[in-house]
Order: sequence, then C-alpha cells, then structure tokens
Amino acid sequence: MNESELKSIHDEARRKNIPLMKDDGMDFLIHYLEEHEHIRDILEIGTAVGYSAIRMAEVRWDMKIDTLEVNPEMYEQSLINVSQAGLSDRIACWLCDGAQFETEKKYDLIFVDAAKSQYRRYMEHFMRNSLPGTVFIFDNLAFHGIVDDNSISHNRSTVQMVHKILKFREHLLKDERFETVYYPDIGDGIAVAKRIR
Ligand SMILES: C[S@@+](CC[C@H](N)C(=O)[O-])C[C@H]1O[C@@H](n2cnc3c(N)ncnc32)[C@H](O)[C@@H]1O
Repeated sequence: MNESELKSIHDEARRKNIPLMKDDGMDFLIHYLEEHEHIRDILEIGTAVGYSAIRMAEVRWDMKIDTLEVNPEMYEQSLINVSQAGLSDRIACWLCDGAQFETEKKYDLIFVDAAKSQYRRYMEHFMRNSLPGTVFIFDNLAFHGIVDDNSISHNRSTVQMVHKILKFREHLLKDERFETVYYPDIGDGIAVAKRIR
C-alpha cells in the first residue's frame, strides 16, 4: 500500500473519531519492531480499522498478525482496508472479544490497545500464548485518552476507570514475570513488558 493510501485510512479514521493510537505512539511501535528483528508473530487486541496492523505488517515481509476486534463495523472496515493493502495473507482479522480468543499459537509480540478496563484480564489470558522473551506492549496507561473520550461520562465511571488503569500499571511494574519500562509521555502512556520467566 503506498503512503497516500495509508494516509487516507489514517485521515478518514481520525475524521470519524475512530480512536487510532496516537501518531507518536505508532512511530514508537514501528521503531520498536524495526529494532527487534526477531519479531515475526504478532497478536493485536484492538484492530479498529486495521491501521496499526497494516503499519506493523509493512515493517517486514515475514511478519504475521492476528488482530482482534469486538465491534462488527470496525471489523468489516478492517477487512476492506487489509485487503486493499494486499495483506490478507499476513493479517488475520478476527471478530471477537479479546478475552475470548483461543489459540495454541505463541507470539513474539502482544500489542494491547483495546478496552482499558480489561488489561489485566488480557494479560493473564494471553500468558499461555507467550514465552520468555515475548513482549507485551500496552497503550493507554496514561489518562489523556479517558479525558478525551466522550463516550465515557466524566463522573464515577471515569474515576473507576482511572483507578483500574492505575492499579494495572502498578501491578505490571511490580510483576516479577516481566521486565517493564513505562513511557508516560509516548502515545497515551506506553508500557513495554518483556516476559522474563
Ligand atoms: C484504540 S482502538 C484500536 C486502534 C488501533 N490499534 C490502531 O491504532 O489502528 C481500540 C479498539 O479496541 C476495540 N475493543 C474494545 N474492547 C475490545 C475487546 N474486548 N476485544 C476486542 N476489541 C476491543 C474497540 O472497538 C476499538 O476499535
């Protein structure tokens, strides 16, 4: 897919207020993949319209991505975009709740960019699909996304969400199964957690 086609997916999604990863977060993720050449098999939770999956798949020709999306309209659009990008053989889009997805596969990278309140659940659920060396990347661990998200009323539910994210972040930073680096100012607060045991 050429740059202008990719840009049009990006711009169209932004125009429709589809919550793509922030641009600096996306650049960080792509740079991470470029630097870590062993990464081939990727699981993404939170496809939206497939923009991040397409960007990741374009880093190296041998990457394979499973990407999970719970919203049927997003899923349909991601199928169209992935097909237009000529990447249907390397990006598999699944319509499902991330926490319900079952596979025997082991992934090199698990990118979590979906319902913020479920991060702990996703992490534990997908431990079985990881090995020591697998990297989990979590976006949205800062609170800007919440403040900007009009679908969440800024009241008790926001407070609960902030509390959940804080708790998850603290838990992750203490979790001895991982070596974790947290980047509060990149994307919407990105953590890179490498499984070490
Ligand atoms: C921040 S957007 C993903 C953006 C995408 N990664 C990108 O940057 O191009 C989050 C997406 O996760 C989806 N989502 C929310 N909860 C989910 C769940 N439990 N399982 C799968 N997808 C979910 C939402 O419908 C939304 O499309």
